[in-house]
Amino acid sequence: MQVVKYMFQPHGDDRGQLVALEEFKDIPFHIKRVYYMYDTASGVVRGKHAHKKLEQILICISGSCKILLDNGSEKKVVNLEKPYEGLYISNDMWREMYDFSDDAVLMVLASELYDESDYIRDYDEFLNMVRENS
Ligand code: TYD
Repeated sequence: MQVVKYMFQPHGDDRGQLVALEEFKDIPFHIKRVYYMYDTASGVVRGKHAHKKLEQILICISGSCKILLDNGSEKKVVNLEKPYEGLYISNDMWREMYDFSDDAVLMVLASELYDESDYIRDYDEFLNMVRENS
């Protein structure tokens, strides 16, 4: 399984850092939605789903968290702990987010508007989708 991590270019000067993200330049899709998670309680596991269509880039803009990626045959854990790194997640990837630090803010750039019918929340259904697509 290939983990696709983007290293964004910080514009640093003596005032600090600034990262700018533009669709189709830094981000490989049209950004239709942005959401973020913070104040995540200790021990919580978020996500636990895949998507039919949605692509995402996850950026832990403060603190740290871990992302489990599962393509149906292989699993990998990715640490997100830098505000200038983004993890690309394709639609057909099962993902779980956990081990959030107290100060973690996990921001998600998404290629589609929120649509509950795009979610695959059942793991067996996810495995069937992966098998059908391969
Ligand atoms: P949920 O899908 O449980 O988040 P996660 O995948 O991180 O576990 O979403 C939590 C709530 O937020 C749920 O009521 C749906 C709502 N929500 C929106 O309204 N818009 C969105 O873009 C997202 C991601 C969630």
